[in-house]
Amino acid sequence: MEGHSHGQTKSGQAKPFLRVLDGEALFPPPVWLMRQAGRYLPEYRAIRAKAPSFLDFCYTPSLAAEATLQPVRRFGLNAAILFSDILVIPDALGQKVCFETGEGPKLDPIMAPSDFAKLDERIDLGRLSPVFETIKLVKQGLPEDVALIGFCGAPWTLACYMIAGRSTPDQVPARLFAYRFRAEFQNLINRLVEASVDYLARQIEAGVEVVQIFDTWAGVLPFAEFKQWCLEPAAAIVAGLRLRHKSARVIGFPKGAGQRLAEFAACTHVNALGLDSTIEPRWAARTLERNLVLQGNLDPLALAAGGAALETGVREILSAFCGRPHIFNLGHGILPQTPVEHVALMLDLVRHQGVTP
Ligand code: CP3
Repeated sequence: MEGHSHGQTKSGQAKPFLRVLDGEALFPPPVWLMRQAGRYLPEYRAIRAKAPSFLDFCYTPSLAAEATLQPVRRFGLNAAILFSDILVIPDALGQKVCFETGEGPKLDPIMAPSDFAKLDERIDLGRLSPVFETIKLVKQGLPEDVALIGFCGAPWTLACYMIAGRSTPDQVPARLFAYRFRAEFQNLINRLVEASVDYLARQIEAGVEVVQIFDTWAGVLPFAEFKQWCLEPAAAIVAGLRLRHKSARVIGFPKGAGQRLAEFAACTHVNALGLDSTIEPRWAARTLERNLVLQGNLDPLALAAGGAALETGVREILSAFCGRPHIFNLGHGILPQTPVEHVALMLDLVRHQGVTP
């Protein structure tokens, strides 16, 4: 199967988002936003109420497809991201996962290596069939110049939730576990690499044109651990995926990787690198390899605040990345308290009032 053949519109013109991912510099840049579907949208809150639990919502193709399309319809973004969650992988490995309103995810924690016996050896893709069904539904409803992004959580970030059983600010449970039980932890990471390759390959077969690997907690790790738990697993996922789909496009998002970004890009061979908001755009544009596509990196709080913070933020990003392949995005997910008018204003700034090249 060929990834690139999905990228053409009926008129034969490649979608702007995919042109940039394939190395072209466009100005103004294409735009999408991490976590662009969700609670800041009144139309999302309205359909979210139709499912008893968040996972039921994710596993109901008609609802998940509608949530995927909502932000594209409202804002005319250049890409849609599949509506699902990174924690469907632990769920499909047999771990108990649920989401409590206002509290975030709750999993049956892994306290000791003996708890791994409770997990299945391989991912049950049958349990994830509603996700592939959602992709097919979205493809039917998507404008022809809008790309569809699939995703998964990176092994390290998944392991953080699987071990702690909840969100923590510093990922101490997973970090301690990895030091104490190195071989067993490596085993878990290997299992997650394999599950991610299977899952992403199926997303591509169902119709996504690019996948993003979210490593939200990459930044908490010291150098050697970053290499072992973030960089090497990401490289293994990219290589494994391209064995199945030769030209699979991958965006890596190792949040908090800082000075290790260049090595991450070089070793993993991702097509594009998502930058978080701690990265100075001019530094990234100067330092990172010219043909590496960069994505990001407006501070989600600047978008929530609006006004001068939003305007200067957008302007700095546009002028720094102008002339190289760049996808405009936030440095992390959009916040639930973000006023929808600020998103419309941001798009207007990117598309009409930005810096001319
Ligand atoms: O629009 C999109 O980006 C698509 C959907 C998407 C969700 N989660 C929906 C969601 C994506 C890409 C994710 C990724 C995700 N999920 C990450 C990586 C990106 C990041 O933000 O760091 C992580 C770490 C998770 C795990 C997760 N899911 C947490 C910690 C929480 C609770 C905190 C929160 O943001 O609410 C979730 C729940 C979740 N995932 C919601 C949504 C819309 C909110 C639940 C609801 O609407 O009831």
